[in-house]
Amino acid sequence: MGLQMNFFRNPAIKGNLEGNLIQLRELVAICIPQNERERHFGLLGSLEDDVATEEGLYLGLARSPAARGNHHAFEGGLVYHLLEMWAAWERLRPDIMDLEHLSNERVFKAILYHDIHKAYRTYLLKGSDPWQVDYGRDPTDQLMTTDIKSIWILMRAGITLDPEQMNALLLAEGGYAKIKPKWQSVLAKLAYLLDEMSGNVASRINSSTFLDVSEGYK
Ligand SMILES: [Fe+2]
Repeated sequence: MGLQMNFFRNPAIKGNLEGNLIQLRELVAICIPQNERERHFGLLGSLEDDVATEEGLYLGLARSPAARGNHHAFEGGLVYHLLEMWAAWERLRPDIMDLEHLSNERVFKAILYHDIHKAYRTYLLKGSDPWQVDYGRDPTDQLMTTDIKSIWILMRAGITLDPEQMNALLLAEGGYAKIKPKWQSVLAKLAYLLDEMSGNVASRINSSTFLDVSEGYK
């Protein structure tokens, strides 16, 4: 189990919600230039608190899962997923020859933004063992798509995206983008790769569901 949970030598620890959030804040401090840092801390701050709503509990950034039933569907799964993507990038980075277009700043931002809408939605807690949630009816989910909602959340924090960052957010989001892959920027390709490595490689190994398609070939 230790090997599985350290697939990318992910420094995040499942269940250590506050510690993982601190690590995410540290990456903001390291990767984001000083003149943009406050806005990004503001972004995290705007999402941190849990809020009780009529439809259920709105989970803040520290407790949000990355999915309801797919990968990282556990308490704190979203931050764990982001840190795992960053850990994958740290493994890959030494072999990238041209880092001019893939700076830590741009890669970290792509990671941080790509699932940010998941930290702003109402979750109905169905059980704690195993930890399970369902989606509540949040008006923002009915008024906009998830990628647009991510942009809206960033806008609230005063963060605007350049065209390449917009491309990475819209075309790498969860791998569900329907636009042709050839239109993906290098940043979008990389964000998608890191997302897949965390979401569909590490998590499947951890949950032992990686054989679900290969079973048919035996
Ligand atoms: Fe993701």
